[in-house]
Amino acid sequence: MRTVDAYNFAGKKALVRVDFNVPLDADYRITDDTRIRAAVPTIQKILNDGGAVILMSHLGRPKAGPEEKYSLRHLVDRLSKEFNTTVKFADDCVGPEAVKLAQDLQPGEILLLENLRFHKAEEKGDAEFARALSTLGDVYVNDAFGTAHREHASTAVIARYFPNDKVMGYVMHAELDNARRVMDNAERPYTAIMGGAKISDKILIIEKLMDRVDNLLIGGGMSYTFVKADGGQIGSSLVEEDKVELASRLIAMAREKGVNLMIPVDSIIADEFSNDANVDTALSHHIKPLWMGLDIGPNAREMYADVIRNSKTILWNGPMGVFEMSNFSVGTEAVAEAVVDATRRGAYSLIGGGDSAAAVNQLGYADRVSYVSTGGGALLEYMEGKTLPGVAAIERDDY
Ligand code: 3PG
Ligand code: MG
Repeated sequence: MRTVDAYNFAGKKALVRVDFNVPLDADYRITDDTRIRAAVPTIQKILNDGGAVILMSHLGRPKAGPEEKYSLRHLVDRLSKEFNTTVKFADDCVGPEAVKLAQDLQPGEILLLENLRFHKAEEKGDAEFARALSTLGDVYVNDAFGTAHREHASTAVIARYFPNDKVMGYVMHAELDNARRVMDNAERPYTAIMGGAKISDKILIIEKLMDRVDNLLIGGGMSYTFVKADGGQIGSSLVEEDKVELASRLIAMAREKGVNLMIPVDSIIADEFSNDANVDTALSHHIKPLWMGLDIGPNAREMYADVIRNSKTILWNGPMGVFEMSNFSVGTEAVAEAVVDATRRGAYSLIGGGDSAAAVNQLGYADRVSYVSTGGGALLEYMEGKTLPGVAAIERDDY
């Protein structure tokens, strides 16, 4: 892999694609800075070499043109503090102001460009837009693992303008390393924990994991599609009607392959989708009409924790319940604690996906698991075996 370690940035302007798509609250404060912290070593390496850094990123999914809530200006103070310097800001990622600021940038300085997605050309992978961006720097660094599954102007197309000067940052390198570790030579017992609302997002990865894991623990909203497929009464729990048959097939596939697929035996149920709802515990197969399962129950918690504690490799993607509501966060917390416990006793644990990573961060466990991925969709696609355009653009000469 061509990484920043193989490059001397002295006197160079490095155009660095980062994934600073971070959550902001109503006052534009950063509520989870994991992705910013992750990018620090790459930026620091360039500065230490005597280079200048031009940062580019998207933030959110703006519909048409600039929108205050998606402005990267909200990150300037955080970055200035991190690097002990006044980070410069260009109100537009292309055009005369960006060109001037880039030209005047001195070694040791950092310039942040405004949200790339304020231009529709970014997501279209427009070559002319990519070329305009490319003129700002001497070397292209891609460290945006979280966006590596997008074939956008700044993540992939731009690489063609730097045939001999394109490298990956440390985030990209570490992410690929960790993902390969659970796909290629995982130590057993190997347990995958899959949560979240929808099976449809996870089908391919679940199928892929069937050939690798010993245990597959199901949680979150998608549990109830499995429960229904298994003949249970799920009340008004979330269900993907068109995926019930698929869930049956996955259950059968697990049996054939000798994978211990577990569906939560019990659930925390509520009479409405709210933290103020009436709450009860029930067998997941016998949920009262009009009630819904919003978290795994106490027995499921214990069974899952037990399996996790006896594992040597753990992959976790997606929360076990409606983690944002305190009444339905217990299952996710219990799983997180078990993962931390197993890690302490020598297991390797990879936390992937936006929500499970957020949960682990929120609980303060990020340093007590082996690796927290900065990628949700990108990690899943990589593990599904897909080529990530952001990676291919750096690794292939003919891209
Ligand atoms: C993410 O958070 O999923 C990445 O930053 C990519 O964003 P996108 O899903 O809007 O392309
Ligand atoms: Mg996404």
